[in-house]
Amino acid sequence: MFQIVRKQSMAKGTIIRQDVIAPRIAKKIQAGQFIVLRVNETGERIPLTVAHADPLAGTITIIFQVVGKTTALLGSLNEGDSILDIAGPLGKPAEAKKFGTVVMVGGGTGVAILYHVTTAMKAAGNYVIGIIGSREKDMLILEDEMREVCDELYITTDDGTAGHKGFVTDPLKTLLEDRKDIKLAYAIGPIIMMKNVTKMTKEYNTPTMVSLNPIMIDGTGMCGGCRVSVGGKTKFACVDGPDFDGHLVDFEQLENRNRLYEEDEKVCMLHSIHK
Ligand SMILES: Cc1cc2nc3c(=O)[nH]c(=O)nc-3n(C[C@H](O)[C@H](O)[C@H](O)COP(=O)(O)OP(=O)(O)OC[C@H]3O[C@@H](n4cnc5c(N)ncnc54)[C@H](O)[C@@H]3O)c2cc1C
Ligand code: FES
Repeated sequence: MFQIVRKQSMAKGTIIRQDVIAPRIAKKIQAGQFIVLRVNETGERIPLTVAHADPLAGTITIIFQVVGKTTALLGSLNEGDSILDIAGPLGKPAEAKKFGTVVMVGGGTGVAILYHVTTAMKAAGNYVIGIIGSREKDMLILEDEMREVCDELYITTDDGTAGHKGFVTDPLKTLLEDRKDIKLAYAIGPIIMMKNVTKMTKEYNTPTMVSLNPIMIDGTGMCGGCRVSVGGKTKFACVDGPDFDGHLVDFEQLENRNRLYEEDEKVCMLHSIHK
């Protein structure tokens, strides 16, 4: 059992942060890696990225958006409650070495995952430019934390209630136009956002990594559920990723595969509400 020692509601309660006691994972986990958890005996297994780890306190931090049955159940747990199983660290760590100047782009809950990798990029000696975006001011997460680790930070909101009115690709375009020293872009967020970021960086020949979130089941390379097409080859995101060269990812296929269980997920959520 893995006890929750701190809980915080973010983004009008749609995003939840939980610090969980998991000393072995906290010691080993590296930026970009994830866990697979099961809330209780009848629960399904879901993957979540570790946003932060504190090896001294023996805790890991997960930040998740409540989108369906399992995230709603997990979000209903409070400080003192426990999660039944957590397996991890899983996946390959993000390649956080010295590149020079890097641009870290995050949208929505993706900022939670971006934060861990951004911290590692800074620690590796890079000049770090962050761009984070959300639909509106109240949905923006980890702004202070990102400001602390970034050398420059740009904020965007779709409705203009904070920072630049528009998408994260707007400041990205300006940066790619104005600066010739950007060695890497790293993007994490909704599939459409990652797709548009990679389309733009391709025009400027800027290498770009993305962190993919296909449907995962076992998280260990056995079930094939998380297969994605990268450069025409089939890869398993849970063991070969989750980070891939964004210019080679088939985003259309990823979008279609992620929609496969949409109807079942709605039914599942309705059942859990009416139970
Ligand atoms: C490597 C990885 C890391 C992730 N990290 C985070 C994170 O840090 N924070 C966060 O909010 N979300 C993260 N996700 C997405 C998260 O796993 C899903 O939101 C969650 O599984 C939804 O489950 P649900 O039952 O609440 O919703 P459901 O109603 O079952 O599904 C809602 C949507 O969530 C996605 N989803 C559902 N089941 C899975 C699954 N088994 N694997 C992947 N996606 C699924 C689908 O897009 C689906 O349409 C990550 C996904 C992956 C693959
Ligand atoms: S989740 Fe089963 S192979 Fe990746």
